[in-house]
Amino acid sequence: MHAIGTILRIKGLSVSFLVGRKRIDVLDNVNLELRKGEVLSLVGESGSGKSVLGISIIRLIPSNTSISGEIIYKGKNLLDLDKDSMRKIRGREIAWVPQNPDTMLNPTIRIGDQIGEVLVEHYGFTRKEAWETAIRILEDLGVNPPDERAKNYPHQLSGGMKQRALLAMGIAGKPNVLIVDEPTKGLDPIMKEILLESLKRIKNMKDSPAILLITHDLEFAEKLADTVAVMYCGQIIEVTKARRFFNSPLHPYSKLLLRALPSRELIPIPGKHPNIAKPPSGCRFRERCPYSKEKCMNEPLMFTLDGNKVKCWLYEHIRNSSDGIIKDNE
Ligand SMILES: Nc1ncnc2c1ncn2[C@@H]1O[C@H](COP(=O)(O)OP(=O)(O)O)[C@@H](O)[C@H]1O
Ligand SMILES: [Mg+2]
Repeated sequence: MHAIGTILRIKGLSVSFLVGRKRIDVLDNVNLELRKGEVLSLVGESGSGKSVLGISIIRLIPSNTSISGEIIYKGKNLLDLDKDSMRKIRGREIAWVPQNPDTMLNPTIRIGDQIGEVLVEHYGFTRKEAWETAIRILEDLGVNPPDERAKNYPHQLSGGMKQRALLAMGIAGKPNVLIVDEPTKGLDPIMKEILLESLKRIKNMKDSPAILLITHDLEFAEKLADTVAVMYCGQIIEVTKARRFFNSPLHPYSKLLLRALPSRELIPIPGKHPNIAKPPSGCRFRERCPYSKEKCMNEPLMFTLDGNKVKCWLYEHIRNSSDGIIKDNE
């Protein structure tokens, strides 16, 4: 479902970590827009910077970080907010489900109470009201039986159920933006299906949050995404509507990513993802790219094509034209 209106706009975001005396530039000039009600899937190989983007948005970045650019939410640059203002945004306006559920779940508190926490803290619910609402949220996510699960402690839950508990915590405060980082990690196919169902239910809720779905699992992304953004070595190199992306993506890297899927050709991408601390000059993908040419020694511009974006010199001459799109078998 495509709704109009941008809810979150990331402009020129760069993030560096200071490790000892070394400065590691992890995100380089990231521009990205999340629209109301859409699922934007951020895909790319491990180590490309996806999680760093997620934690930068909610400002849970470690202290050894330097960050520049803008993250605009409701007209405000989140990077300008003090800790207290940011705390009010987290959970209530922008919620985040981390890559590792155990970092977020308190082992000594029942799931129902953990889900209701945001309601007690931000919305003045009593414990009892929050508990009842937590059960309803679990039910909305398709958890069965919701009241039994609410009574469980985290160690009593399967990996898939933990993820769904985190989603319930995420949506409890009715956020406008939900960031979900690698939700399928470690899940078997059945659990993935169940999790998919819960995420679809969130997507179809009235006033559903915009979802930033961070995943390296393209097959999972395909089932949910409205738009796909591809990250490679700290840069966004393609942003394309999902249907187009999964049929005929623009960037050579995206084409190879899709070809590598078990359900497709299972042809691995040649070479390795570069170490983000030492990115190649020019196009960061050029050493692995079958279309690489002299020009690729220079950093590509971001070209637009039918409203999609691609950072690749192949598109230099065909920008803004509807023909001249490179074919998959080229
Ligand atoms: N706190 C940190 N200090 C230094 N480097 C970090 C830190 N967090 C992440 N990195 C580095 O940033 C890069 C991108 O990491 P990450 O965003 O986790 O990738 P992805 O989520 O795409 O797998 C990695 O090379 C990682 O080692
Ligand atoms: Mg990650």
